[in-house]
Amino acid sequence: MIYLDNAATSYPKPDAVYRAIEEFARTSGGNPGRAGHRLAVEAEAMIDDTRRLAARLFGAPRPERVVLCLNATDALNMAIKGVVRPGDHVITSVLEHNSVNRPLNRLERDGVITLTRLPASAEHLIDPGALLRAWTPRTRLVAVTHASNVTGTIQPVGDYGRIVRERDGLLLVDAAQSAGAVPIDVEADLIDLLAFTGHKGLLGPTGTGGLVVGERADVGVWREGGTGGDSTDPFQPAELPYHLEGGTPNVFGLAGLREGLRIVLERGVESILTHERALLAAFLGGLRRPETFSFYGADTALRERGGEGRVGLLSFTMTGYAPGELATLLDQHFEIAVRPGLDCAPYAHRHLGTFPAGATRLSVGFLSTEDDALGVAAALNELSEG
Ligand SMILES: Cc1ncc(COP(=O)(O)O)c(C=O)c1O
Repeated sequence: MIYLDNAATSYPKPDAVYRAIEEFARTSGGNPGRAGHRLAVEAEAMIDDTRRLAARLFGAPRPERVVLCLNATDALNMAIKGVVRPGDHVITSVLEHNSVNRPLNRLERDGVITLTRLPASAEHLIDPGALLRAWTPRTRLVAVTHASNVTGTIQPVGDYGRIVRERDGLLLVDAAQSAGAVPIDVEADLIDLLAFTGHKGLLGPTGTGGLVVGERADVGVWREGGTGGDSTDPFQPAELPYHLEGGTPNVFGLAGLREGLRIVLERGVESILTHERALLAAFLGGLRRPETFSFYGADTALRERGGEGRVGLLSFTMTGYAPGELATLLDQHFEIAVRPGLDCAPYAHRHLGTFPAGATRLSVGFLSTEDDALGVAAALNELSEG
């Protein structure tokens, strides 16, 4: 099997991640913070270490402001619903995943907020000037993706950060596709809330993710319950991370995420990004009939600019094949896994003109090889040559 659906979840994980989960589960799997025995203490220490590594990767000065949760969707819901107040204006973009769209759309439909959805340029970028023009005295939150899961373009979040900070708003960045794949510095880019998932570029298992909460963001409680701390308090603690973390965490999953974070930090995000861009360029170079395909913005960037401004995913359509049909053929005849359809990002496909059928997306990852990239090119060559 050639797995090129790493934007959905990275697979396989590095062996060290599997080993870390198993070893932790067999030797140290207590309930963190819930008791003073060795197994509970080791679980707590492992989770603290995971926070510390995530804080280091994202340039967050205080590990306790890394709130660990289920995935990016959980983190985004926590952030959006935790900061908006009735009457607020929120700015977002057409490039967002439904984990941003749906909470915001419901808040708008219920009359809680007003919402502006910024368009994307022909290069699939959200213009900071458009953000500036959309700003109103009621704007509290700007919620944007760092790297689109459809176009792969990396957005200039630092430019948004400066605009938002000068106007005393909050910037929420969806780093689902960029964590572990693009350098991120929440302080330098003035990001108030960074939502990440653990199971894509951070190489951890599903069921892990987090929200980095900056000093200016006051996020309302989310999942209230036991924290292992002072049980006499009738309310959720005010301190982070426990203010936003109730219940027993995904201890085994976090043991895997910790290992994934170590691997990413050791290899270096820049090096991972260079590897992934090179694989996409190899794929494009391996196509014998490129004119049979429409690539959404990526081919020029990859061929002429070394992939600058993009992450390791590529959406395309192929003449003569519907996206779903193409993905099924690749799966059943060539054992190649790609993603067809709308990628949970319907406005992005409207922007591309590929709604409602969507496109076919291939996405490389940390463990993808040149053989994988050339293998999918060879399969598409066979299909394009009939
Ligand atoms: C851009 C983007 N945001 C958010 C998400 C949601 O991530 P998760 O499924 O881990 O909650 C995804 C997942 O595909 C994504 O690509």
